[in-house]
Amino acid sequence: MCGITGYIGFREAYPIVISGLKRLEYRGYDSAGVMLYDGKEIHLSKTKGKVSDLEEITSKEEKRRKGNLGIGHTRWATHGVPNDVNSHPHISQSGELVIVHNGIIENYDSLRKELISRGYTFKSDTDTEVLVNLIEEVKKQENCKLGKAVQLALNNVIGAYAIAVFDKTKPNELVIARLGSPIAIGVGKENKEFFVASDASPFIEYTKDAIYLEDEELAIIKIGKGIKVRKIKDDTMVDANIQQLKMSLDQIEKGGYDHFMLKEIHEQPKAIIDTYRGRMLADEGIIRMAGVDNHMNKFLNAERIIIVACGTSWHAGLVGEYLIEDKARIPVEVEYASEFRYRNPIITSKDVVIAISQSGETADTLAAIKLAKSKGAFVFGICNVVGSSIARETDAGAYTHAGPEIGVASTKAFTTQITVLTLIALKLASKKGTISKTELRTFLQRMQLIPAKVEALLKIDEKVKEIAAVYKDAKNCLYLGRGFNFPVALEGALKLKEISYIHAEGYPAAEMKHGPIALIDENMPIFVIATNKGHYEKVVSNIQEIKSRAGKIIAIVTEGDVQVREIADHVIEIPETEEALSPLLTTIPFQLLSYHIAVMLGKNVDQPRNLAKSVTVE
Ligand code: F6R
Repeated sequence: MCGITGYIGFREAYPIVISGLKRLEYRGYDSAGVMLYDGKEIHLSKTKGKVSDLEEITSKEEKRRKGNLGIGHTRWATHGVPNDVNSHPHISQSGELVIVHNGIIENYDSLRKELISRGYTFKSDTDTEVLVNLIEEVKKQENCKLGKAVQLALNNVIGAYAIAVFDKTKPNELVIARLGSPIAIGVGKENKEFFVASDASPFIEYTKDAIYLEDEELAIIKIGKGIKVRKIKDDTMVDANIQQLKMSLDQIEKGGYDHFMLKEIHEQPKAIIDTYRGRMLADEGIIRMAGVDNHMNKFLNAERIIIVACGTSWHAGLVGEYLIEDKARIPVEVEYASEFRYRNPIITSKDVVIAISQSGETADTLAAIKLAKSKGAFVFGICNVVGSSIARETDAGAYTHAGPEIGVASTKAFTTQITVLTLIALKLASKKGTISKTELRTFLQRMQLIPAKVEALLKIDEKVKEIAAVYKDAKNCLYLGRGFNFPVALEGALKLKEISYIHAEGYPAAEMKHGPIALIDENMPIFVIATNKGHYEKVVSNIQEIKSRAGKIIAIVTEGDVQVREIADHVIEIPETEEALSPLLTTIPFQLLSYHIAVMLGKNVDQPRNLAKSVTVE
């Protein structure tokens, strides 16, 4: 995820682009850049860091801030670590074309090789520099205008993009296009000015007229003339539909959601797809993960896998333990990084350590990695933030590609971490032969259905809200689950604790009678995961035990469930799936529940007290 913005018109472009980038920083903030055209020269300023770091650079020279045309970018690195060179905008070899890009060009490597064979050289490691040179090459070969060249080039691209392209030889126009990543055009009066941005927040104070490009559409924006929109594939003209923006600035930054947490909960279907995209060929039964493939011997010869993490990432690690042991039959231990680093653990070069961290900066996890490496273990990282300390410190790894997670309570990081762990477990299983090709194919095909099932599940929001209203004043809550869903019970309790400040405990359902059962009375809400495949009958017995002590039962069941419905006070249905995939679904109602309770209690959902998004102290 990245943010792009641009302006062409009669005003100074710089302040518009910079304030737009600040509003888009939620989309990524590992580097930033801006291109200004002053009527004669292109001025490019870019840097690793935030938009404020970019401002420091541009403040040193006035020419970097001058011009009525500008495009800018705030980056969430995908290809190439965050550094000055990899930052956008990228300029073509001739120095005439400049691009900003949000997305991923999957076939960039083959395009790059082709361009190298035609004499192009590259300064950065990015897929975007490949794209701008591809456009330049097409423009040269076909002797065509920028719009046509962009269209032809994009027909050779596999991946996702929202782009804005500037051509110094046509300084009155900008070309933008979209596939899979959003882009909006703000339309000024009498075609005298136009704005471009990943969402409408950068131009909301200038115009309420906006065109949102659809997938596979390209727009040519010309000062004085207007906007022409075409289909990228077949060149047909499209009637540009101008919408009247009704949202406030505040809402737009959160994509229309009241809080980042809710936005991120709703982003999960896409985040899960982004995580497995390019890694999983379901119908062929193939998983490709370079970080695992390149070190397969380490995994296959491992005497055990040790997973280290903190908080929500530790819960994902527990799901990983169940997955890897069940599918690949390799022994797994899951450790709190903070305990592991100080308890003088036995680690040898025959161990593989998997470190999980959304931020990639958690101090305890980083220290655990350093300890494991010093004992000769191979360390694999699962991180969301590209180029983070943990991503750099580990021997190999896999990014979750969930996009920036801004709400302090982790949601999409958890489900995407589980997605990566599922792929790792299956990859190892297929290599070890503990899963057959047919079983793998079937499993992956079911996994491919998960995003749509999460999407469907998010529609139960109103029902969850009603349940939240009933239990919002509870002082204590219990969360119970078994097997793959025991870690989900822990995660459900953590979500409630951290944003609503209600005390909650997660427990393996059968452990209840070894202590927590003493807490149960008519005031105690108990959230139980009772999906149809995982020890269902045993969980039903646990529910009976709660019922006979007058506890309030809120059960997560599989669609069509009859038995639990008869006993529970409330049921929330989730779609049918493999038991091993069910945590990706059962966790959703718990996220929504905590969210609504916190809102009803008037708590600061996105920035709960005492917490921070990235825990860089031990
Ligand atoms: C809870 C939460 C924390 C983090 C923990 C580890 O919602 O976000 O428990 O999971 O601080 O952080 P990362 O994953 O960044 O290492």
